[in-house]
Formats: sequence, C-alpha cells, structure tokens
Amino acid sequence: MTASPPSAGLAVVVLAAGQGTRMRSRTAKVLHPIAGLPMVAHVLATALALEPGRVVAVVRHERDAVAAAVLDAVPEARIVDQDGIPGTGRAVEQALPEVGDASHVLVLNGDLPLLDLETLEPMLAAHRGADVAATVLTAVVEDPAGYGRVVRSADGGLERIVEHRDATPEERAIDEINAGVYLFRAEGLADRLAALSVANDQGERYLTDVIGALRDDGHRVAAVRAHDPHAVAGVNDRAQLSDVARRLNDRIVRRWQLDGVTVVDPASTWIDARVRLEPDVEIRPGTQLVGATIVERDAVIGPDTTLTDCEIGAGARVTRTDGTLAVIGAGAQVGPWAYLRPGTYLGRDGKIGTFVETKNAEIGAGSKVPHLSYIGDTTVGERSNIGAGTITANYDGVDKHRTAVGSAVRTGSHNVFVAPVTIGDGAYTGAGTVVRKDVPAGALGVNVAPQRNIEGWVERSRPGTAAARAAASSAGDAPEDPEGQ
Ligand code: UD1
Ligand code: CA
Repeated sequence: MTASPPSAGLAVVVLAAGQGTRMRSRTAKVLHPIAGLPMVAHVLATALALEPGRVVAVVRHERDAVAAAVLDAVPEARIVDQDGIPGTGRAVEQALPEVGDASHVLVLNGDLPLLDLETLEPMLAAHRGADVAATVLTAVVEDPAGYGRVVRSADGGLERIVEHRDATPEERAIDEINAGVYLFRAEGLADRLAALSVANDQGERYLTDVIGALRDDGHRVAAVRAHDPHAVAGVNDRAQLSDVARRLNDRIVRRWQLDGVTVVDPASTWIDARVRLEPDVEIRPGTQLVGATIVERDAVIGPDTTLTDCEIGAGARVTRTDGTLAVIGAGAQVGPWAYLRPGTYLGRDGKIGTFVETKNAEIGAGSKVPHLSYIGDTTVGERSNIGAGTITANYDGVDKHRTAVGSAVRTGSHNVFVAPVTIGDGAYTGAGTVVRKDVPAGALGVNVAPQRNIEGWVERSRPGTAAARAAASSAGDAPEDPEGQ
C-alpha cells in the first residue's frame, strides 16, 4: 500500500443493478459466488478498505437479494433503487443524492471481484495530484472484446470512451479498455449525468459518455493504467466467472503459503475467502476448504477432502472426508472416507474412521468410531470404543431419538442402538447385539440367541457340493472327486 487512504471526502458508489443477461441465470450476476462470497462482496470489501465516508450500492434486478448481500458485507451501506431507465449513467445519477457532502465519488462496477487496493491506490494518488474533473482506470489487455475502448487524442490524453458495440473497426482495434472504475469530482457531476443521451446501440444512459462530455466542455480528465490487467477483469459470462475464480483462488492460496501453510498442489486446492488457517497446516491435493472453515496449527487436511464451515483442531488429520459444520478436536483422526454431517463434535485425540457417517454426534475425547458405522443424534463419553458396523437407529419414522453412550464403554461389532437408549459408563455389549434396553454402568448387554451347531448338516442336506466335499475331507474320509476339483 502506497498512500494513506482518503476518507470522509470520498463516497463509493457500487453499481449492482444490472441483470447480467450474459450469465443466462435466474440469479443476479453480482450474487454469483466467488471464493464463497457473492461477487459484489469482494468489490465492497475493497471499497471498505479505502475507509470512505459513504458506501452506496445501486440495485434493481433481484433487488432484495442483492441489497441483502450488500448489507451483509457493509451494514452501513446505503441502498438506492434504480428506476426503469437503464444504463450505468442512470445508476450513478440516482445514487448521487445519497453520497452526502462527499467531494469525490469513486464509482465501481459490481462485477470486478479481483479489484484490489494495490490497483486502486495509484489511481487515487494520481487523481489527488492533478487538477482533473475525473480519473478513469484503464488496462491494456490481450482480448479487449466486449469492453469499452479508451480513445486517446494525438497528445496521448484521454478523449472519450466508446462501447464495443458502438465502436468502429479502428476503435475496436484499440487494446486499452475502460476498467469500469472512475473517480469523479462531485461538483457538477449531477448535471452531466442528467444530460446523458441514449443515442447508442443499447439505448442506455452510459456513464462512460460523461468522460467525453467533460472533455468537450474543457475539463481535464485523466486515465491511469492498471499495473495488473487481470485485477480489473469484468465478469459478464460464466467462462469469465471461472477464470476470475481461478485467479482469486491463486491469490488466496499464495497468501496462505506465504503465511506458513503448506499447499502441496495449488491447482487442485480451493480455499474460500473467509477460511482461516494457522501456520504449519498442510493441505494435500484435491482439497476444498469452504465457507468459514478454520484449521489450526499442524493439522493435515486431504487428499480429496471437502470441509464446509468446519473447525479442525491442532495436529488433527482429516483424510478423504466430506464434512459440514463439524468440529474436530486437536490430535483427532478422521477418514479415510468419512462423512461428517452438521453437529458432529469429535473430542481431542478421538477417531472417526473409514466409511463412518456422523450427524448430531458428540464423541468425547479419546473415543473412537473406527469402522463402517452410522452415528446420529448421539453422545459418546470419553475413551469409549464403538464396535465396527454399528448403527444408531435414531428415527422411528416419526421422531428422532437420542443414543447416550458413557465413558470407557466398549460396544461389540455390528450393534444396533435402538434409540432412545443409554449405555452406562464402563459397560460392554456383545457382538451383534440389538440394544433396545438401557445397559447399566459396568454391565454386559447381550441379546443374541444362543448359537446351535447342527453336526453333519452340510453333508446330509447339500450332498455333492464343494462345501460337502470340504467338510468330508476335513473329517478325513474324502470321497473320490469326479471333476478333479
Ligand atoms: C461496462 C462499461 C465498459 C467497461 C466495462 C468494464 C458502460 C456503459 N460500459 O460495460 O466501458 O469496459 O463495464 O467491465 O458503463 N449496472 C447498473 N445499472 C444498469 C446497468 C448496469 O447498476 O442500468 C451495473 C451492473 O450490475 C454491473 C455494472 O453496472 O455491475 C456494469 O454493467 P455491465 O452491463 O456489466 O457493463 P459492461 O457491458 O461490462
Ligand atoms: Ca461488465
């Protein structure tokens, strides 16, 4: 960051009223998420970093949802409803009464999620240092198609901006584009906006025409080129959406790497903007950290793991796992192939192992559910072991019921806990038990019928089979094997 941010004299207007036709979506363009936040939230975050006196957002399409997203990002923002007159010029015109006594107005298109302070600062500094009515941020790009082109006069000064669809072939050859970021002196701006015409291909009131009009009236306008053209990439369609998402992800991954996180394969690692990681976390390939996920020091996540709004404790290992709203204690182990549903809490040094699904399950410190189980609506105390293949039958078809397992419990393999049911501290259950009644502390719960072996049944009832031959040979009187098998 170079200069200190301007403050009270600056108002920011974010344009977010457009439908975004080229997205071909029922959702307003600026609400499409990038790194877990609506596109417009990224623009607003950058605007906020300037500490402006006012933030104004112009909305129309999907008005309520867009306004909610804006207020979520900037609670003190002012929402302005654009009327039926289309165009970015009309949007700013309607926002102006809300900018208060700001001397300068920074206008940002709402579809520039990669715009950062490093790109804005030089533009603001240039504007402050010059006596100009407006400064436009521009960029030289490889493919300018679709953008407004920056037409410069013979002396190199900014003359006007022409939209792609209104441009002549010569103008379309210009590779310097209008980024959609403008800093205006507030004084006189309203009159300029009121005078905008609709004489263009779209019949809209273009904000970009203000630049030419200022020039024609003898005002000075400046153009500042963005150092990194990618920072001003606009999102108009879904191809640009994924391009921009990839770049933002690269930026996020790089920042965490520099903060001490090992990311083995940045290309297959996706980290949302709100995720928090501590130093010496290791992220293995194919991992997505989504929403407000937090991972503490020395934890190893992945490969092939998706965690949404999870908290992973220090030193825990989470392998090939899908988790949502789960809290995993320090030193605990999860996976491979675990499915953590909301309300899963695993205590320190606990284990949720392979092919295990959990939901609303509080599993205490040192307790383990190692194999092939469904544990739902359950509490397990500390240092207990749940046998392989255990199912909590928590749903009777109408209501959900809870299973409570105490501490230092050892349940046998292939149990069904028919909830509501309680297993006391230190209790055991036998393998294959269907636990329908509470098991008191220290008891062994069994309800399997006694086993009966019917001697010689196979040779009598399944003569001639491989089993019968095996049985006979094991008894020492193997018959002649006609098929040599
Ligand atoms: C706009 C610029 C173009 C520039 C490009 C940069 C104009 C006329 N053109 O084109 O010169 O190169 O951005 O990305 O400004 N919006 C409103 N109200 C409206 C119309 C749009 O609030 O009536 C908002 C949209 O929600 C969007 C932003 O303004 O966030 C830009 O609109 P968009 O239609 O994407 O403009 P572009 O065609 O990309
Ligand atoms: Ca755009």
